[in-house]
Amino acid sequence: MSLSHLQSACPETAIVLGSGLGSVVDDLGIEAEVPFADVPGLSASTVPGHAGRLVLSRISGKAVLIAQGRRHLYEGLSAYEVTASIRFMHELGVKRVVLTNAAGAIKESMAVGELMLITDHLNLQGTTPLLGGPHFHDMSEVYSATWRDRFLAAAAKLQMPLHEGVYAALLGPQYETPAEIRMLRTLGADAVGMSTVPEAIQARALGMEVAGISMLTNWAAGLKPQTLDHSEVVAVGKQASVQLAKLLAAVL
Ligand code: 6GU
Repeated sequence: MSLSHLQSACPETAIVLGSGLGSVVDDLGIEAEVPFADVPGLSASTVPGHAGRLVLSRISGKAVLIAQGRRHLYEGLSAYEVTASIRFMHELGVKRVVLTNAAGAIKESMAVGELMLITDHLNLQGTTPLLGGPHFHDMSEVYSATWRDRFLAAAAKLQMPLHEGVYAALLGPQYETPAEIRMLRTLGADAVGMSTVPEAIQARALGMEVAGISMLTNWAAGLKPQTLDHSEVVAVGKQASVQLAKLLAAVL
């Protein structure tokens, strides 16, 4: 399917699906698809669990552009490179984007398999897609408060637990040590991951409205007797993506 098909559909809303969350698309249906490799500035992901394509779906009759997979800094790319998809969406006319990810839970009141609405982030990745300019963007409300309210209302209606919290983004690719998780908790982090923040910064700098949702696929290191394994993260994400699909359908 060609890029011009995506353009002519004029999607105003986009969704980026994180690790193991790609199956959200299965519940929505596919109208057109374009592999990342065919999109200017994008290339195929190297991570298992990330299909790496743009999919055009429809939710309640409205065109929605879905990035199934994303690129990460830990693949050795720059923050500018991993946000090519966001700039491409902006060029297509996308005005608002829901960024999703698989994350480790830090806050004790949450549970594995549940969702956390991102209220704010800690950028601990040591870089930003805005290096070289534009400079000094306001980041006092990266994750739209009005959009957050709509997600909370939809979750209440669906009787689905939806936590709220701060997402800390680290470079990876290794998971954190227990000492690092204690540090992150002290800093005010409720969940931890390796993505989303560069995209959120890029999208805000372009004036897009941003929402962020973390799927809590596991406890962060040292909080429960366990070791971390990417295939488990992907497996939990797959089960819980049904919940995510329902929530997205309700809000969009
Ligand atoms: Cl525990 N840490 C990070 N950095 N990313 C994750 C994770 C933990 N669990 C899922 N993704």
